[in-house]
Amino acid sequence: MKFFVDTADIKEIAEMNDTGLLDGVTTNPSLIMKSGRDIMEVTKEICDLVEGPVSAEVTATEYADMMKEAAVLAKIADNICIKLPLTMDGLKACKALTSDGHKTNVTLCFSANQALLAAKAGATFVSPFIGRLDDMAVDGMDLIADIRIIYDNYDFKTEILAASIRTVDHVKQAALIGADVVTAPPATLKALVKHPLTDKGLAAFLADWAKTGQSIT
Ligand code: G3P
Repeated sequence: MKFFVDTADIKEIAEMNDTGLLDGVTTNPSLIMKSGRDIMEVTKEICDLVEGPVSAEVTATEYADMMKEAAVLAKIADNICIKLPLTMDGLKACKALTSDGHKTNVTLCFSANQALLAAKAGATFVSPFIGRLDDMAVDGMDLIADIRIIYDNYDFKTEILAASIRTVDHVKQAALIGADVVTAPPATLKALVKHPLTDKGLAAFLADWAKTGQSIT
């Protein structure tokens, strides 16, 4: 499973990247707003820092304008992945961009049929939003499971990028179902390593080790 970090905060991205466990980055207009940075500048910095795909989202809603914005974003770096909304114009742009050899991420996916369309449009990634479905008392993981079955039925190559991840349990469930990628906020990715028994066990080992008076040299 690939791990993407869902933020436009350079410091957080650099910290995650240093672990060697990061496979890519996703941004969106809300995350750019939160960063307080210029989209072109911050996206270029992210692309220079991280080897894997960096999703940058168009803000136009009509095909021709999406294509113009995509051309601007694609020039930022080779690892740019153009993020497009799951609308008919977004799918049309996805088809054109993937045919031109660009990486694409079709976002705001809330149904299996939408995911089917994204795959037919040749999307590199589809982003089903788990947390926002959970917010409406719909189990977001059911959507991931449905998409997995559909994509496997037809051998679609589009990768399932579980997004709107809010908890470590979301990460586990997505992995159990076989999502190809999760994108999560830095705090959620950092929380994956935590277990109280690990902390307790390590403290006990260190205390015993101190009693030996030895050092590993
Ligand atoms: O990757 C999509 C993500 O940014 C949305 O997350 O928590 O705003 O629903 P959230």
